[in-house]
Amino acid sequence: MKKVIVLGGTGFVGTQVCTLLALQGWKVSLALRHVDRAAHMRSLPGLSPLVLDVHDEVALARALAGHDAAVNLVAILHGTQAAFEQVHVALVHKLARALRAAGVPRLVHVSAIGADAQDPGSAPSMYLRSKGAGEAALLQAAALQPSALQLTILRPSVIFGAADKFLNVFARLQEVLPVVPLAGAQARFQPVWVHDVATAVARSLQPVHEAASRGNPARIIEACGPEVFTLRELVQLAGQLHGIRAGRGRPVFGLPDWLARLQATLMQLSPGEPVMSRDNLDSMKVDNVASGTLPGLTALGIEPSALQPIAAQYLRRGSSASPG
Ligand SMILES: NC(=O)c1ccc[n+]([C@@H]2O[C@H](COP(=O)([O-])OP(=O)(O)OC[C@H]3O[C@@H](n4cnc5c(N)ncnc54)[C@H](OP(=O)(O)O)[C@@H]3O)[C@@H](O)[C@H]2O)c1
Repeated sequence: MKKVIVLGGTGFVGTQVCTLLALQGWKVSLALRHVDRAAHMRSLPGLSPLVLDVHDEVALARALAGHDAAVNLVAILHGTQAAFEQVHVALVHKLARALRAAGVPRLVHVSAIGADAQDPGSAPSMYLRSKGAGEAALLQAAALQPSALQLTILRPSVIFGAADKFLNVFARLQEVLPVVPLAGAQARFQPVWVHDVATAVARSLQPVHEAASRGNPARIIEACGPEVFTLRELVQLAGQLHGIRAGRGRPVFGLPDWLARLQATLMQLSPGEPVMSRDNLDSMKVDNVASGTLPGLTALGIEPSALQPIAAQYLRRGSSASPG
């Protein structure tokens, strides 16, 4: 039985990835910070939680040893420059060295649409610049030792699914707000279903896809859905599918840039995870859609799912349906 180690597997995407891999017969080592973060996956066959400080390179190499592949989903969406550097760049450098030390030949790394490995500094936000720098580090490691490391980088647009913190948040906001003042209303996204992303990770580990990428030690896949929406359209759709105002949703009005930044600043100052940070606003200066110059999910044999039929199931009020 093949063994895979998943870093960042306790989150929204990681839960789906671990579930799929375990059900496909992989022995899954789930690296985690706190053992209780795996409680919801305890019953999965072949899954072993492994408490690990992934930032400790020696411990990381020790944990990687004996695995056929690794998946990296560790990421943050909000934080300081130093935090983005630590999680998206320094950790990835350590991971590249630890993979080599442990002799693990395969890595699937989940990045984000808008990251630019060629010119990381050109991206508009700390999130995207650090994602690009992380990609660049891995591409360099794969190029230096092409026979030792096969690398797939997945770049998803925004990801939707029953446990998302995107459509769910905008739907719930409309339960309490009479209107939605929206920053970045015209930003464009190409939402992708979490199950399609998890399938892309699993397919990237399969021998046929390993073979397809063998001529080239690294490949980048743009993991996007079939449709493009503006943020305004997505927020309206979330309200409608949630049954707000008998399916009409709340009126959404776009904020001018200065007011959007003020709103994001206030959100950052309030306790808990902000709905929108200034750095998120910066990320939306570039479209969150496939460039079209790189392969998409169909290159992995995946026909990406449309948003509305799936989101309708989990956004409906009182729904217990959980597609992904
Ligand atoms: N969700 C989206 O819409 C979206 C869109 C594009 C790209 N992505 C990318 O997809 C990947 C997975 O995203 P996600 O939505 O599943 O994120 P998530 O739910 O926030 O999960 C993040 C994971 O990273 C771990 N983590 C966070 N900070 C860490 C740190 N400082 N040290 C060690 N572990 C840390 C978390 O561990 P704990 O459980 O202990 O907190 C969790 O396992 C990320 O690379 C993300 O950038 C996501």
